Amino acid sequence: MDEGDPGDEPGADGDDADVRDGGRPALADARGVESVYQPAEDSALLARTAREYVEPGDRALDVGTGSGYVASVLGDAGAVAVGVDLSPLACRQAAANGVSVVRGDLLSPFRDDVFDLVVFNPPYLPTPQKKEWDDWMEHALSGGEDGRRLVDPFLDDVERVLAPGGEALLLVSSLTDPEAVRSYARERNLESERVAREKHPYEKLVVLRFVPM
Ligand SMILES: C[S@@+](CC[C@H](N)C(=O)[O-])C[C@H]1O[C@@H](n2cnc3c(N)ncnc32)[C@H](O)[C@@H]1O
Repeated sequence: MDEGDPGDEPGADGDDADVRDGGRPALADARGVESVYQPAEDSALLARTAREYVEPGDRALDVGTGSGYVASVLGDAGAVAVGVDLSPLACRQAAANGVSVVRGDLLSPFRDDVFDLVVFNPPYLPTPQKKEWDDWMEHALSGGEDGRRLVDPFLDDVERVLAPGGEALLLVSSLTDPEAVRSYARERNLESERVAREKHPYEKLVVLRFVPM
C-alpha cells in the first residue's frame, strides 16, 4: 500500500487546513464531519446488495473504499476483498479497520481479468466546478457538474478488471440520472439492471448491476 504523504495533498496541510478560498471553511469542517466518508445510507444499501452477489472465495474490489466498510462486509461474506482509494486518509482508516487497501485512482492499480465482483459507491453530488478539490471530503462527495465525473471513467475501465463471469455493482442517485449512466454503459458494451432501490427525502438511491455484453 502506498499511503502517500497527506501533507502534500488537499485537506491535510496544517494550520490553514480548516479555511479555504479567502475564508470559506473546508467542506469537512463546515459539515462537522471527519475527512474520511463514514458509512451512510448509500454505503449500507450497496453493502446489503453486494452480499447477495458475492460468493465465498470471490475476489472482490471495493472502489473508493473510504473507511473500508463495504470491503469489510464483503470480507465477512467470505470474499477475498481489497479496497482502493485516492485519499491517503481513507487508506489509513480502511487499513486500521483491517481492510487490505491500495492507494490509487479508480481501477488503474489493478491487472486485467482479476475480480469476480467490483463495487463502487462514488462521489456523486452535482457540484459547480469551482467549488471542488479543497479537501479530501470534497473528493469523497463531489461528482462534478453532472455528478458523474468518476462514474464515466469507472464504466470505461471496469470490464478490463473483471474475471470471466465477473460483475460490477454501482451505487447511483436520482441526482446523477441513473438512465444516463445506463445509456453510457450500454455504449461501452455493459448490460445493466437495477437490483436495489431506496427512497430518501432528497433523492432515490439505486444499485445498478453491470455485466459485459
Ligand atoms: C461516497 S465515498 C464512499 C466511501 C465508502 N465506499 C462508503 O460507501 O462508505 C467515495 C469515496 O471515493 C474516494 N475517491 C474519490 N476519488 C477517487 C478516485 N479517483 N479513485 C479512488 N477513490 C476515489 C473518496 O476518497 C471516498 O472515500
